[in-house]
Amino acid sequence: MNLARQIEQYLPRQLLGLVKDISGQAAKQGQRVYLVGGVVRDLLLGYPNFDLDLVVEGDAVKLAQQVAENSQAKLLAHHRFGTAKLRYDNFTLDLATARKETYDSPGALPTVTPGTLKDDLIRRDFSINAMAVSLASNDYGELVDPYQGKSDLEHHLIRILHPKSFSDDATRILRGVRYEQRFGFEFEAQTARLLKRDIPMLDTISGDRIRHELELIFKEKQPELAIKRLGELGVLPRISPFLKGDGWIAEKFDRARHLKKPVQLPSLYFCLLIYSFNERDIEQFLARLNISAKLSRAMRDTLRLKARLPLLDKPSLKPSEIYYLLREYEPLAIQVNAIASEPSMAHRYFELFLTKLRYVSTSLDGEELKKLGISAGPEMGQILQRLHKAKLNGEVRTGADERKLALSLSLKLKR
Ligand code: CTP
Repeated sequence: MNLARQIEQYLPRQLLGLVKDISGQAAKQGQRVYLVGGVVRDLLLGYPNFDLDLVVEGDAVKLAQQVAENSQAKLLAHHRFGTAKLRYDNFTLDLATARKETYDSPGALPTVTPGTLKDDLIRRDFSINAMAVSLASNDYGELVDPYQGKSDLEHHLIRILHPKSFSDDATRILRGVRYEQRFGFEFEAQTARLLKRDIPMLDTISGDRIRHELELIFKEKQPELAIKRLGELGVLPRISPFLKGDGWIAEKFDRARHLKKPVQLPSLYFCLLIYSFNERDIEQFLARLNISAKLSRAMRDTLRLKARLPLLDKPSLKPSEIYYLLREYEPLAIQVNAIASEPSMAHRYFELFLTKLRYVSTSLDGEELKKLGISAGPEMGQILQRLHKAKLNGEVRTGADERKLALSLSLKLKR
């Protein structure tokens, strides 16, 4: 099968010239270059994909250096182990030397040696990701499909390439579910059996790699589909015994996505994922996934605030009371509680805090107060806080109002 037409139709126009430069340069050196992986799968499905991976039967770094010298592309990075990144017109393109991989122990990074295109394809996760397209001038666009990826695509199947695939690299369990749910495919029967058998191999995977796979899931259009499926398959409890992937999560993820101002969506998903945890259970999860300090803070705050929700379910809190109750929590934790908790008075307070109260400040500062004869010290601190509360509650509006209040507070404090 020839995919020259699909290449012209679905790849970014700006990159086509560069792709041709690369294959021309490769031909001069007697090397062959192929498009590989997800982009080939997407060409067959008729989806655009701007993430181009090229494999070179030869030396990818040398080739990338020569392309950069002879074109407008910039060499962004290259590595000893045969990979290089080129940038052109805001697009990046990855080149790699065809490689053979062997896994010394499950979950460890593989040992890599140069290999043929076929070696490079068999080391991959699934048949649908193990196809290539030639970019050489004599067979430009020809599909290379030694493991029946095209047939699996047509039959909507996710299939591993050898029985040790999941145990060599258990992140493929998470990747497989991501593709299954993205495309509405199914695991081929033997693959499904081995996936279930190898779920315990997730214990061999580092926290960083598991977290990265979850982050990739969170970039999907509907990440809740994969999360739910991971729950059904018993994958989530292997990552943390407290994780669930039920309908509740699905509904909240959907709501998070439809927020008017969706901020930090991946972090928001992480916080929703742990919303049913107890405060003490979260630590195991944060450590297992090596979650950053900032996100850990938001996740802990999410649960701390959840525990204090009853305090906020009062009909008559003043804006200043709301502010001083909520200011100690990360805004993200407040947003998560607004999405995840049952509708209550607290929801109005969250909204008020997030959209208004947290931005309120007095126009007078310490320097201005000094000019009014108030000296630095605890008294000034008290006055500034009282001014802030009055501003939050709408009791003062202008700078003149604030000055008046500051002077009368100072007098009172002196007495
Ligand atoms: N790959 C693999 N095993 C992994 C990670 C990646 O075999 N654990 C291979 C697959 O062939 C995949 C390619 O590396 O197609 C590139 O990986 P990645 O960029 O993560 O995925 P894409 O295939 O581009 O898919 P998408 O970005 O659409 O998820």
